[in-house]
Formats: sequence, structure tokens, C-alpha cells
Amino acid sequence: MLILGIETSCDETGIALYDDQKGLIDHILHSQVALHAEYGGVVPELASRDHIRLIMPLIDTLLKKNNVDISTVDAIAYTAGPGLSGALLVGSSVAESLACSLAIPAIPIHHLEGHLLAPMLETKKPDFPFLALLVSGGHSQIIHVKAIGDYEIIGDTLDDAAGEAFDKTAQLLGLSYPGGAELSRLAMTGNPRFELPRPLMNTADFDFSFSGLKTAVLTLVKKQTLLDDQTRADIAFAFQEAITDVLVKKTISAIEYVNLDQLIISGGVGANKQLREKFKLASEKHKFDLFFPSLEFCTDNGAMIALAGALRYHLPKNNKNNHYQIKPRWRLTDI
Ligand code: KG4
Ligand code: ZN
Repeated sequence: MLILGIETSCDETGIALYDDQKGLIDHILHSQVALHAEYGGVVPELASRDHIRLIMPLIDTLLKKNNVDISTVDAIAYTAGPGLSGALLVGSSVAESLACSLAIPAIPIHHLEGHLLAPMLETKKPDFPFLALLVSGGHSQIIHVKAIGDYEIIGDTLDDAAGEAFDKTAQLLGLSYPGGAELSRLAMTGNPRFELPRPLMNTADFDFSFSGLKTAVLTLVKKQTLLDDQTRADIAFAFQEAITDVLVKKTISAIEYVNLDQLIISGGVGANKQLREKFKLASEKHKFDLFFPSLEFCTDNGAMIALAGALRYHLPKNNKNNHYQIKPRWRLTDI
């Protein structure tokens, strides 16, 4: 069974071909980062227009490159939410109309489910049930993944998401949007000179709060008489240490609480090297299996959507009715 996957929830147009027997055939990704950079964040209307401009050429390119005739595709999976309405509409309308014209099912996918299942694109895959730390630009959640579509959110952010905290801190340090990866590069040249708070790190729940950390960075930046490159790197280092300490500590408490022995880390912040290293050490100490998607599948991509489509294809509950579906606000537990 061959699935075409389409991701257009935000500022990346991702297209993929996934075969349930052979695995991922190929994928292609166009990032709009350069388009939005001068505005310091994603401009929804520009995002939609760029998806419109590229979605069909990207599908064409991927099919041709892999010698796949569109008539051999069995279903089209697309991100139906959450995300930017206009951007979602582009993927949804292309997927639903293409599926209708080919008389095959279209499968609406929850974007976060895509992130949750992304580690299954790798050779070493987790088995259900497992615990997931989902850390992206819009979410920081600890989720008990029981089966496809059966998710219990046991920890959530009370304010800023982890990626948002990375991006806002990066902005304070003069880095361009989205600053997570750049901040992490800057931190590599930083030294342990500043101490920043680790909000909610020792509370008994599994929730996060990062807005206070961002304010602490702002105060620290303002206090500096000289914000030279080394000071910026030292602040980046202190921020990264603080946020990764909180993410690791709370996730470890959660995995012990639910008594599972597999943990997956996914979403854009899951690409963070420091976070990965801290989790590797923790997995050895606390004896659980650790799974990461490869770096390219941590951030948004079409492959995770195609994979989720393949796993959902046989579910009776699946919606394959060929009508437009977008849910800009959609809780993972409401699938
Ligand atoms: O999963 P994603 O691509 O999009 C959403 O679904 O939100 O995540 C994007 C987020 C951004 O906030 C970005 O700064 C962050 O992931 N990010 C990183 C790194 N790479 C991407 N944060 C920290 N370190 C990284 N290496
Ligand atoms: Zn995402």
C-alpha cells in the first residue's frame, strides 16, 4: 500500500511517499524560513501563498524522481490540524480533491500524531505503549501513547512551549527566527557563567512553564553593560542548560510514574544536541529505551504524515469521506 503524505500546517511544505511494506520511499521539503525571516515570525498569509505556489510542483517532482505514477497511490494523508487555517486549507484541498479524482481515500491527520509517530520511521522503532516528550514550536507535552489514536496527555505547558522559549530567547540574543537551532550553536561556545531558574522542576506534577525563564533571560540581558559575543554565548549556554534540565527531570519523573520502559522524544526541540545527550545519560541511569527521530524528522515534514496515514488506513474510525477537513485548533485527545 502506497501513501502520499502532505504537510502544510505552518511554514514548511512537506511531501512524502510511504509504502507500508518497504517503509519510507522518499520525501521532499521546502522551508519558508527565509520568506518569514525579515518579519521575525511566520506571516500566515505569506505562508498560505507559498504553499499554493509549491505544493503541486513538489508532488510532481517527488513522483517523477521515484518513477511513481500517481494512479498507483492508494491513499493521501494530509495534516488537517492544528495549525494556520490558510496553510492547512492548501494541503487539505489539494489532498481531498486529488483523492476524489483518483477515487482513493484521503486521511486527515493530526499534526502532533505525526510528530509522535515519527520515531517509527527509523530502523529501531518503539512498540506501544510508550511515553513521549513532544517538544515543538507550539507544544511541550508528556504523552502516554497507548495505541494509534489513544493518547493521554499527562503533562502540558502552562504558558510558552519549549520551542517558543528557545525562539524568544534567541530573539533577545539578536538571532534570527526561528532561533532554536542557532541558539544551540551559539551555546556551544558558551561557558558556565550565569545561573538561570528552572521553573516547576521539582513540583510533583508533569507540567511545564517557561515564560518566567524567558523573563529571567531578558533581565540578565538588560543587566549586561557589554553584550559581546562571549556574553551572548554564555547566556545561551545558561538558558539551554536550564530548559534541558527541566525537560529531562520532569520526563524522567513521568516515565517512572507511568512505569513504562520506552521513551520517545519528538518535535523540533528534539533536534537539540544537548537535550539528546542528557536523555541518553538518563536512559542509561534509569534503564529505559530511548528513541529519537533522525534530525530531519524532528522538525515538520511530510514523511511523518504519510506514516501516520499508513498506520491509520485500516482503522474503522478513520474519516475517508472526501470532504475538506481542517481543524486549526484540535486537541490530540479529541482525534
Ligand atoms: O516541530 P517543529 O518543526 O514545528 C512545530 O510543530 O512547532 O518545531 C519548531 C521548533 C522551533 O521553535 C525551533 O526553534 C525549534 O523547534 N528547534 C530547536 C532546534 N531545532 C529546531 N530548538 C532547539 N534546538 C534545536 N536544535
Ligand atoms: Zn510540528
